[in-house]
Amino acid sequence: MNGEESPREGELHKIISDSISESDAGVDGLGRIRITGGISLDGEVKIQGSKNAALPIMAAALLNRGTTVLKGCPRIADVFLMEQILCGLGATTCWQGDTLEICARELKSCVADKELGEKMRSSIVLLGSLLGRWGEGVLPFPGGCVIGARPIDLHLEALRKLGAEFKEEEGCLYGRARGLRGGEITFHRSSVGATQNAVLGAVCAKGTTVIRGCSREPEVSWLCRFLNQAGGQIRGIGTSCLEIRGVSGLHDTVFQIPSDRIAAGTYVCASAITRGKGILLDPPVGEMGALLKAYEKIGGQYMYKSGKLFLCSQRALGPLRWLETGIYPGFPTDLQSIFLAVLTCARGESRIRENIFEDRFKVVPQLQKMGAQITLDGRMARIRGGRLFGTLVKAEELRGGAALVIAGLGAEGETCVENREFIERGYEDISRDLNDLGARTQKD
Ligand code: EPZ
Repeated sequence: MNGEESPREGELHKIISDSISESDAGVDGLGRIRITGGISLDGEVKIQGSKNAALPIMAAALLNRGTTVLKGCPRIADVFLMEQILCGLGATTCWQGDTLEICARELKSCVADKELGEKMRSSIVLLGSLLGRWGEGVLPFPGGCVIGARPIDLHLEALRKLGAEFKEEEGCLYGRARGLRGGEITFHRSSVGATQNAVLGAVCAKGTTVIRGCSREPEVSWLCRFLNQAGGQIRGIGTSCLEIRGVSGLHDTVFQIPSDRIAAGTYVCASAITRGKGILLDPPVGEMGALLKAYEKIGGQYMYKSGKLFLCSQRALGPLRWLETGIYPGFPTDLQSIFLAVLTCARGESRIRENIFEDRFKVVPQLQKMGAQITLDGRMARIRGGRLFGTLVKAEELRGGAALVIAGLGAEGETCVENREFIERGYEDISRDLNDLGARTQKD
Protein backbone atom coordinates (compact mmCIF):
# COMPACT_ATOMS: atom_id res chain seq x y z
CA MET A 1 0.00 0.00 0.00
CA ASN A 2 1.59 3.31 -0.95
CA GLY A 3 1.54 6.19 1.47
CA GLU A 4 3.48 6.56 4.69
CA GLU A 5 5.30 3.34 5.42
CA SER A 6 5.60 2.11 8.97
CA PRO A 7 8.65 3.51 10.70
CA ARG A 8 11.64 1.87 9.04
CA GLU A 9 13.49 -0.87 10.88
CA GLY A 10 16.28 1.44 12.04
CA GLU A 11 13.95 4.30 12.87
CA LEU A 12 11.50 2.01 14.58
CA HIS A 13 14.29 0.42 16.49
CA LYS A 14 15.24 3.86 17.77
CA ILE A 15 11.63 4.59 18.73
CA ILE A 16 11.41 1.27 20.53
CA SER A 17 14.80 1.45 22.18
CA ASP A 18 13.96 4.99 23.22
CA SER A 19 10.53 4.02 24.46
CA ILE A 20 11.95 2.81 27.71
CA SER A 21 9.97 -0.02 29.16
CA GLU A 22 7.77 0.36 32.20
CA SER A 23 10.45 -1.17 34.35
CA ASP A 24 13.22 1.21 33.23
CA ALA A 25 12.37 3.83 35.83
CA GLY A 26 15.00 6.44 36.42
CA VAL A 27 16.88 5.97 33.16
CA ASP A 28 18.71 9.26 32.82
CA GLY A 29 19.69 11.37 29.88
CA LEU A 30 16.75 10.63 27.64
CA GLY A 31 14.57 13.31 26.02
CA ARG A 32 13.23 16.26 27.97
CA ILE A 33 10.24 18.60 27.84
CA ARG A 34 10.62 22.19 29.01
CA ILE A 35 7.51 24.01 30.22
CA THR A 36 7.16 27.73 30.88
CA GLY A 37 4.74 28.13 33.77
CA GLY A 38 2.15 30.80 34.51
CA ILE A 39 0.50 31.11 31.08
CA SER A 40 -3.30 30.89 31.02
CA LEU A 41 -4.28 28.54 28.20
CA ASP A 42 -6.76 29.63 25.56
CA GLY A 43 -6.43 27.60 22.38
CA GLU A 44 -7.87 24.48 20.81
CA VAL A 45 -6.55 20.95 20.37
CA LYS A 46 -7.68 17.85 18.49
CA ILE A 47 -7.80 14.76 20.70
CA GLN A 48 -5.70 11.80 19.48
CA GLY A 49 -6.91 8.22 19.10
CA SER A 50 -7.16 6.11 22.21
CA LYS A 51 -4.05 4.13 23.19
CA ASN A 52 -5.98 1.70 25.38
CA ALA A 53 -8.61 1.06 22.72
CA ALA A 54 -6.09 0.69 19.88
CA LEU A 55 -3.77 -1.86 21.54
CA PRO A 56 -6.31 -4.69 22.14
CA ILE A 57 -7.91 -4.03 18.74
CA MET A 58 -4.49 -4.44 17.10
CA ALA A 59 -4.14 -7.77 18.91
CA ALA A 60 -7.63 -8.74 17.71
CA ALA A 61 -6.54 -8.21 14.09
CA LEU A 62 -4.67 -11.53 14.38
CA LEU A 63 -8.04 -13.29 14.36
CA ASN A 64 -8.73 -12.08 10.81
CA ARG A 65 -6.89 -14.01 8.09
CA GLY A 66 -7.06 -10.89 5.99
CA THR A 67 -6.68 -7.13 6.26
CA THR A 68 -7.85 -4.90 9.09
CA VAL A 69 -7.79 -1.12 8.65
CA LEU A 70 -7.74 1.08 11.76
CA LYS A 71 -8.46 4.77 11.17
CA GLY A 72 -7.49 7.44 13.72
CA CYS A 73 -4.84 5.18 15.24
CA PRO A 74 -2.52 7.09 17.62
CA ARG A 75 1.11 7.27 16.46
CA ILE A 76 2.58 6.51 19.87
CA ALA A 77 5.43 4.30 21.06
CA ASP A 78 3.20 1.56 22.50
CA VAL A 79 1.33 1.27 19.19
CA PHE A 80 4.61 1.04 17.25
CA LEU A 81 5.77 -1.59 19.74
CA MET A 82 2.59 -3.65 19.26
CA GLU A 83 2.96 -3.22 15.51
CA GLN A 84 6.50 -4.57 15.65
CA ILE A 85 5.36 -7.56 17.72
CA LEU A 86 2.63 -8.32 15.16
CA CYS A 87 5.19 -8.10 12.35
CA GLY A 88 7.43 -10.50 14.26
CA LEU A 89 4.53 -12.97 14.20
CA GLY A 90 4.31 -12.62 10.41
CA ALA A 91 1.74 -9.85 9.94
CA THR A 92 2.49 -6.97 7.57
CA THR A 93 1.56 -3.38 8.36
CA CYS A 94 1.45 -0.02 6.67
CA TRP A 95 0.57 3.53 7.80
CA GLN A 96 -1.13 6.21 5.77
CA GLY A 97 -1.33 9.28 8.05
CA ASP A 98 -3.15 8.00 11.15
CA THR A 99 -4.59 4.99 9.35
CA LEU A 100 -2.89 1.70 10.16
CA GLU A 101 -3.43 -1.33 7.95
CA ILE A 102 -2.67 -4.77 9.40
CA CYS A 103 -2.59 -7.86 7.17
CA ALA A 104 -2.57 -11.13 9.13
CA ARG A 105 -3.28 -13.46 6.23
CA GLU A 106 -0.05 -15.38 6.67
CA LEU A 107 1.33 -15.70 10.18
CA LYS A 108 4.66 -17.46 10.59
CA SER A 109 4.92 -17.86 14.35
CA CYS A 110 2.98 -17.88 17.61
CA VAL A 111 6.03 -16.76 19.61
CA ALA A 112 6.03 -13.04 20.44
CA ASP A 113 9.43 -11.33 20.48
CA LYS A 114 10.62 -11.47 24.11
CA GLU A 115 12.58 -8.21 24.15
CA LEU A 116 9.73 -6.25 22.59
CA GLY A 117 7.01 -7.90 24.64
CA GLU A 118 8.80 -7.16 27.88
CA LYS A 119 8.76 -3.45 27.09
CA MET A 120 4.99 -3.28 27.30
CA ARG A 121 2.77 -5.05 29.80
CA SER A 122 -0.25 -4.80 27.57
CA SER A 123 1.35 -7.33 25.20
CA ILE A 124 -0.35 -9.89 27.48
CA VAL A 125 -3.58 -9.17 25.61
CA LEU A 126 -2.09 -11.04 22.63
CA LEU A 127 -2.61 -14.27 24.55
CA GLY A 128 -6.31 -14.55 23.75
CA SER A 129 -5.75 -13.79 20.07
CA LEU A 130 -2.85 -16.20 19.65
CA LEU A 131 -4.80 -19.01 21.32
CA GLY A 132 -7.81 -18.17 19.18
CA ARG A 133 -5.78 -18.12 15.96
CA TRP A 134 -3.15 -20.81 16.52
CA GLY A 135 -4.29 -22.81 19.55
CA GLU A 136 -1.02 -21.79 21.20
CA GLY A 137 0.99 -18.72 22.04
CA VAL A 138 4.26 -17.77 23.73
CA LEU A 139 4.69 -14.39 25.40
CA PRO A 140 7.28 -12.93 27.76
CA PHE A 141 5.95 -13.18 31.30
CA PRO A 142 5.01 -9.54 31.95
CA GLY A 143 6.84 -8.14 34.97
CA GLY A 144 5.45 -5.59 37.38
CA CYS A 145 6.07 -1.93 36.89
CA VAL A 146 6.32 1.20 38.99
CA ILE A 147 2.55 1.52 39.47
CA GLY A 148 2.14 -1.96 40.92
CA ALA A 149 2.73 -5.71 40.73
CA ARG A 150 0.22 -6.08 37.90
CA PRO A 151 -0.30 -9.86 38.11
CA ILE A 152 -2.03 -11.86 35.35
CA ASP A 153 -3.81 -14.54 37.39
CA LEU A 154 -7.24 -13.34 36.24
CA HIS A 155 -6.15 -13.59 32.57
CA LEU A 156 -4.97 -17.18 32.96
CA GLU A 157 -7.96 -18.29 35.06
CA ALA A 158 -10.36 -16.97 32.42
CA LEU A 159 -8.59 -18.61 29.45
CA ARG A 160 -8.32 -21.91 31.34
CA LYS A 161 -12.13 -21.90 31.49
CA LEU A 162 -12.03 -21.98 27.67
CA GLY A 163 -9.68 -24.97 27.63
CA ALA A 164 -6.25 -23.34 27.63
CA GLU A 165 -3.26 -24.64 29.61
CA PHE A 166 -0.23 -22.61 30.66
CA LYS A 167 3.29 -23.09 31.87
CA GLU A 168 6.07 -20.62 32.60
CA GLU A 169 9.65 -21.32 31.54
CA GLU A 170 12.63 -18.97 31.57
CA GLY A 171 10.50 -15.87 31.90
CA CYS A 172 8.15 -16.88 29.13
CA LEU A 173 4.50 -17.88 29.33
CA TYR A 174 3.55 -20.86 27.15
CA GLY A 175 -0.17 -21.21 26.39
CA ARG A 176 -1.77 -24.09 24.55
CA ALA A 177 -5.32 -25.12 23.71
CA ARG A 178 -6.47 -27.95 21.49
CA GLY A 179 -9.12 -25.59 20.15
CA LEU A 180 -10.74 -23.14 22.54
CA ARG A 181 -14.30 -24.01 23.49
CA GLY A 182 -17.06 -21.84 24.97
CA GLY A 183 -17.46 -21.78 28.74
CA GLU A 184 -18.62 -19.82 31.79
CA ILE A 185 -16.24 -17.23 33.21
CA THR A 186 -16.87 -15.17 36.34
CA PHE A 187 -14.48 -12.41 37.38
CA HIS A 188 -14.55 -11.77 41.12
CA ARG A 189 -12.33 -8.75 40.53
CA SER A 190 -12.67 -6.26 37.70
CA SER A 191 -9.81 -6.35 35.22
CA VAL A 192 -9.73 -4.52 31.89
CA GLY A 193 -7.01 -6.64 30.32
CA ALA A 194 -8.31 -9.95 31.63
CA THR A 195 -11.81 -9.16 30.30
CA GLN A 196 -10.27 -8.30 26.92
CA ASN A 197 -8.26 -11.53 26.88
CA ALA A 198 -11.35 -13.55 27.75
CA VAL A 199 -13.31 -11.89 24.94
CA LEU A 200 -10.49 -12.49 22.45
CA GLY A 201 -10.32 -16.16 23.45
CA ALA A 202 -14.09 -16.59 23.24
CA VAL A 203 -14.91 -14.76 19.99
CA CYS A 204 -13.70 -17.65 17.78
CA ALA A 205 -14.09 -20.49 20.29
CA LYS A 206 -16.40 -23.43 19.56
CA GLY A 207 -19.71 -22.72 21.27
CA THR A 208 -21.01 -19.93 23.46
CA THR A 209 -19.22 -18.19 26.33
CA VAL A 210 -20.82 -16.19 29.11
CA ILE A 211 -18.51 -13.80 30.98
CA ARG A 212 -19.76 -12.28 34.24
CA GLY A 213 -18.05 -9.59 36.30
CA CYS A 214 -16.67 -7.98 33.13
CA SER A 215 -14.85 -4.68 33.29
CA ARG A 216 -17.14 -2.00 31.82
CA GLU A 217 -14.31 0.34 30.78
CA PRO A 218 -14.97 1.94 27.37
CA GLU A 219 -11.88 0.20 25.99
CA VAL A 220 -13.58 -3.18 26.57
CA SER A 221 -16.73 -1.95 24.80
CA TRP A 222 -14.74 -0.60 21.87
CA LEU A 223 -12.96 -3.95 21.47
CA CYS A 224 -16.36 -5.70 21.41
CA ARG A 225 -17.73 -3.22 18.87
CA PHE A 226 -14.70 -3.80 16.67
CA LEU A 227 -15.09 -7.59 16.93
CA ASN A 228 -18.79 -7.43 16.06
CA GLN A 229 -18.05 -5.19 13.10
CA ALA A 230 -15.50 -7.80 11.95
CA GLY A 231 -18.01 -10.65 12.26
CA GLY A 232 -18.06 -11.47 15.97
CA GLN A 233 -21.30 -12.17 17.85
CA ILE A 234 -21.11 -10.43 21.21
CA ARG A 235 -24.12 -9.29 23.24
CA GLY A 236 -24.28 -7.21 26.42
CA ILE A 237 -21.67 -4.63 25.36
CA GLY A 238 -21.23 -2.01 28.09
CA THR A 239 -22.62 -4.27 30.79
CA SER A 240 -20.80 -6.53 33.25
CA CYS A 241 -22.16 -9.64 31.52
CA LEU A 242 -21.12 -10.52 27.97
CA GLU A 243 -22.52 -13.41 25.92
CA ILE A 244 -20.27 -14.45 23.05
CA ARG A 245 -21.24 -16.95 20.36
CA GLY A 246 -18.05 -18.29 18.79
CA VAL A 247 -17.57 -17.78 15.03
CA SER A 248 -15.11 -19.47 12.66
CA GLY A 249 -13.06 -16.32 12.14
CA LEU A 250 -13.25 -12.57 11.57
CA HIS A 251 -13.42 -10.77 8.22
CA ASP A 252 -11.87 -7.59 6.82
CA THR A 253 -13.16 -4.33 8.21
CA VAL A 254 -12.33 -0.63 8.42
CA PHE A 255 -12.71 0.63 12.00
CA GLN A 256 -12.46 4.12 13.50
CA ILE A 257 -10.41 4.12 16.71
CA PRO A 258 -12.24 6.32 19.28
CA SER A 259 -10.57 9.40 20.75
CA ASP A 260 -8.60 9.05 23.95
CA ARG A 261 -10.53 9.89 27.14
CA ILE A 262 -7.32 10.05 29.19
CA ALA A 263 -5.58 12.43 26.80
CA ALA A 264 -8.73 14.58 26.75
CA GLY A 265 -8.88 14.55 30.56
CA THR A 266 -5.22 15.54 30.67
CA TYR A 267 -5.99 18.68 28.64
CA VAL A 268 -8.99 19.56 30.82
CA CYS A 269 -6.51 19.53 33.71
CA ALA A 270 -4.12 21.74 31.73
CA SER A 271 -6.87 24.34 31.40
CA ALA A 272 -7.75 24.01 35.09
CA ILE A 273 -4.26 24.43 36.53
CA THR A 274 -3.67 27.59 34.44
CA ARG A 275 -7.18 28.97 35.16
CA GLY A 276 -7.45 29.40 31.42
CA LYS A 277 -9.94 28.41 28.78
CA GLY A 278 -9.56 25.99 25.89
CA ILE A 279 -11.49 24.01 23.31
CA LEU A 280 -11.08 20.25 22.85
CA LEU A 281 -12.01 18.91 19.41
CA ASP A 282 -13.62 15.47 19.24
CA PRO A 283 -13.26 14.45 22.91
CA PRO A 284 -15.21 11.35 24.01
CA VAL A 285 -17.34 13.42 26.38
CA GLY A 286 -19.72 10.50 27.00
CA GLU A 287 -16.83 8.63 28.65
CA MET A 288 -15.55 11.60 30.72
CA GLY A 289 -18.34 12.01 33.26
CA ALA A 290 -16.31 11.41 36.41
CA LEU A 291 -13.48 13.73 35.33
CA LEU A 292 -15.84 16.53 34.30
CA LYS A 293 -17.72 16.21 37.59
CA ALA A 294 -14.45 16.64 39.52
CA TYR A 295 -13.51 19.56 37.24
CA GLU A 296 -16.81 21.30 38.06
CA LYS A 297 -16.32 20.68 41.79
CA ILE A 298 -13.07 22.69 41.71
CA GLY A 299 -14.78 25.55 39.87
CA GLY A 300 -14.38 24.54 36.22
CA GLN A 301 -17.16 25.30 33.76
CA TYR A 302 -17.76 23.55 30.43
CA MET A 303 -20.15 23.28 27.53
CA TYR A 304 -20.21 20.56 24.88
CA LYS A 305 -21.56 21.43 21.43
CA SER A 306 -21.12 19.92 17.97
CA GLY A 307 -18.12 17.81 18.87
CA LYS A 308 -16.35 20.60 20.75
CA LEU A 309 -15.79 20.81 24.52
CA PHE A 310 -15.51 24.45 25.60
CA LEU A 311 -13.65 24.88 28.89
CA CYS A 312 -13.57 27.88 31.22
CA SER A 313 -11.38 27.51 34.31
CA GLN A 314 -11.31 31.14 35.41
CA ARG A 315 -13.19 30.22 38.60
CA ALA A 316 -10.96 27.25 39.36
CA LEU A 317 -9.06 26.17 41.62
CA GLY A 318 -11.20 25.30 44.61
CA PRO A 319 -10.17 22.29 46.73
CA LEU A 320 -11.71 18.84 46.25
CA ARG A 321 -12.55 17.51 49.69
CA TRP A 322 -12.70 13.91 48.50
CA LEU A 323 -11.87 12.05 45.30
CA GLU A 324 -11.34 8.34 44.83
CA THR A 325 -10.48 6.29 41.77
CA GLY A 326 -12.63 3.36 40.75
CA ILE A 327 -13.64 1.09 37.94
CA TYR A 328 -15.71 2.68 35.17
CA PRO A 329 -17.74 4.81 35.37
CA GLY A 330 -15.75 5.87 38.46
CA PHE A 331 -12.88 8.33 38.34
CA PRO A 332 -10.16 6.74 36.14
CA THR A 333 -6.93 5.75 37.87
CA ASP A 334 -5.04 6.94 34.77
CA LEU A 335 -6.07 10.54 35.56
CA GLN A 336 -5.33 10.34 39.27
CA SER A 337 -1.73 11.62 39.12
CA ILE A 338 -2.72 14.34 36.67
CA PHE A 339 -5.60 15.59 38.81
CA LEU A 340 -3.35 15.37 41.87
CA ALA A 341 -0.99 17.81 40.14
CA VAL A 342 -3.88 20.23 39.65
CA LEU A 343 -4.90 20.02 43.31
CA THR A 344 -1.38 20.98 44.44
CA CYS A 345 -2.27 24.48 43.17
CA ALA A 346 -5.84 24.54 44.52
CA ARG A 347 -6.94 26.63 47.47
CA GLY A 348 -7.28 24.66 50.72
CA GLU A 349 -6.96 20.95 51.43
CA SER A 350 -7.94 18.10 49.09
CA ARG A 351 -7.86 14.32 49.45
CA ILE A 352 -7.46 11.54 46.88
CA ARG A 353 -7.79 7.80 47.46
CA GLU A 354 -6.29 5.40 44.88
CA ASN A 355 -8.27 2.14 44.79
CA ILE A 356 -6.93 0.43 41.66
CA PHE A 357 -3.10 0.26 41.68
CA GLU A 358 -1.15 -0.12 44.88
CA ASP A 359 1.67 2.20 43.92
CA ARG A 360 0.18 4.95 41.83
CA PHE A 361 1.50 7.80 43.95
CA LYS A 362 4.99 7.23 42.54
CA VAL A 363 5.07 10.74 41.11
CA VAL A 364 4.59 12.43 44.51
CA PRO A 365 8.31 12.91 45.37
CA GLN A 366 8.85 14.67 42.03
CA LEU A 367 5.86 16.95 42.67
CA GLN A 368 7.22 17.66 46.14
CA LYS A 369 10.49 18.76 44.51
CA MET A 370 8.35 21.47 42.85
CA GLY A 371 7.02 22.58 46.21
CA ALA A 372 3.85 20.49 46.33
CA GLN A 373 2.56 19.85 49.85
CA ILE A 374 1.37 16.25 49.73
CA THR A 375 1.15 13.77 52.61
CA LEU A 376 0.76 10.08 51.79
CA ASP A 377 -0.86 7.51 54.02
CA GLY A 378 -1.15 4.16 52.22
CA ARG A 379 -3.68 4.61 49.45
CA MET A 380 -4.61 8.11 50.58
CA ALA A 381 -3.01 11.41 49.56
CA ARG A 382 -3.70 14.62 51.42
CA ILE A 383 -2.88 17.74 49.42
CA ARG A 384 -2.51 21.24 50.83
CA GLY A 385 -2.82 23.65 47.91
CA GLY A 386 -0.09 26.23 47.41
CA ARG A 387 2.50 27.39 44.89
CA LEU A 388 4.70 25.27 42.62
CA PHE A 389 8.17 26.29 41.45
CA GLY A 390 9.75 25.16 38.21
CA THR A 391 12.73 22.81 38.53
CA LEU A 392 14.25 19.64 37.00
CA VAL A 393 12.04 16.57 37.58
CA LYS A 394 12.06 13.00 36.27
CA ALA A 395 9.24 11.01 34.70
CA GLU A 396 9.20 7.36 35.83
CA GLU A 397 6.03 6.18 34.07
CA LEU A 398 3.50 7.41 31.57
CA ARG A 399 0.78 9.16 33.56
CA GLY A 400 3.12 10.40 36.29
CA GLY A 401 5.20 11.98 33.55
CA ALA A 402 2.12 13.70 32.14
CA ALA A 403 1.29 14.92 35.65
CA LEU A 404 4.71 16.59 35.91
CA VAL A 405 4.13 18.41 32.62
CA ILE A 406 0.72 19.63 33.82
CA ALA A 407 2.31 20.72 37.12
CA GLY A 408 4.89 22.67 35.08
CA LEU A 409 2.08 24.69 33.49
CA GLY A 410 0.97 25.83 36.95
CA ALA A 411 4.46 26.39 38.36
CA GLU A 412 6.37 29.67 38.57
CA GLY A 413 9.34 29.69 36.20
CA GLU A 414 10.53 26.88 33.95
CA THR A 415 10.12 23.15 34.60
CA CYS A 416 12.16 20.50 32.81
CA VAL A 417 10.74 16.96 32.74
CA GLU A 418 13.31 14.25 31.96
CA ASN A 419 12.61 10.84 30.40
CA ARG A 420 10.10 12.24 27.93
CA GLU A 421 9.96 8.77 26.31
CA PHE A 422 7.72 7.51 29.10
CA ILE A 423 5.14 10.16 28.15
CA GLU A 424 5.45 9.36 24.45
CA ARG A 425 4.24 5.83 25.17
CA GLY A 426 0.71 7.23 25.43
CA TYR A 427 0.66 10.78 24.04
CA GLU A 428 1.42 11.40 20.34
CA ASP A 429 2.99 14.78 21.16
CA ILE A 430 1.96 16.35 24.48
CA SER A 431 4.17 19.38 23.76
CA ARG A 432 2.47 20.00 20.40
CA ASP A 433 -0.98 19.57 21.94
CA LEU A 434 -0.34 21.88 24.89
CA ASN A 435 1.17 24.52 22.59
CA ASP A 436 -2.00 24.29 20.46
CA LEU A 437 -3.84 25.11 23.68
CA GLY A 438 -1.65 28.20 24.14
CA ALA A 439 1.10 26.82 26.40
CA ARG A 440 4.80 27.41 25.85
CA THR A 441 6.61 24.06 25.91
CA GLN A 442 9.45 22.56 23.91
CA LYS A 443 11.08 19.15 23.48
CA ASP A 444 14.83 18.65 23.54
C1 EPZ B 1 -5.55 -1.26 31.81
O1 EPZ B 1 -4.50 -1.94 32.47
C2 EPZ B 1 -4.93 -0.01 31.20
N1 EPZ B 1 -3.89 -0.40 30.25
C3 EPZ B 1 -4.31 0.84 32.30
O2 EPZ B 1 -3.81 2.03 31.68
C4 EPZ B 1 -5.39 1.22 33.30
O3 EPZ B 1 -4.81 1.95 34.35
C5 EPZ B 1 -6.04 -0.06 33.85
O4 EPZ B 1 -6.55 -0.85 32.76
C6 EPZ B 1 -7.18 0.23 34.81
O5 EPZ B 1 -8.15 0.98 34.17
C7 EPZ B 1 -4.26 -0.75 29.00
O6 EPZ B 1 -5.44 -0.78 28.66
C8 EPZ B 1 -3.15 -1.08 28.04
P1 EPZ B 1 -6.47 -4.08 35.19
P2 EPZ B 1 -4.74 -3.46 33.02
O7 EPZ B 1 -6.24 -5.50 34.78
O8 EPZ B 1 -5.67 -4.16 32.11
C9 EPZ B 1 -5.33 -6.19 39.28
C10 EPZ B 1 -2.19 3.63 31.11
O9 EPZ B 1 -1.59 4.49 31.78
N2 EPZ B 1 -5.18 -7.43 38.49
O10 EPZ B 1 -7.84 -3.51 35.04
O11 EPZ B 1 -3.41 -4.03 33.27
C11 EPZ B 1 -4.24 -5.18 38.93
O12 EPZ B 1 -3.07 -5.42 39.67
C12 EPZ B 1 -2.38 2.24 31.69
O13 EPZ B 1 -2.68 3.84 29.98
C13 EPZ B 1 -5.02 -8.63 39.16
O14 EPZ B 1 -4.98 -8.68 40.38
O15 EPZ B 1 -5.45 -3.15 34.40
C14 EPZ B 1 -4.89 -3.87 39.32
O16 EPZ B 1 -4.73 -3.66 40.70
C15 EPZ B 1 -1.76 2.08 33.06
N3 EPZ B 1 -4.87 -9.78 38.42
C16 EPZ B 1 -6.38 -4.10 39.00
O17 EPZ B 1 -6.54 -5.53 38.90
C17 EPZ B 1 -4.92 -9.77 37.05
O18 EPZ B 1 -4.81 -10.85 36.44
C18 EPZ B 1 -6.84 -3.47 37.70
O19 EPZ B 1 -5.96 -3.90 36.70
C19 EPZ B 1 -5.09 -8.54 36.39
C20 EPZ B 1 -5.24 -7.38 37.13
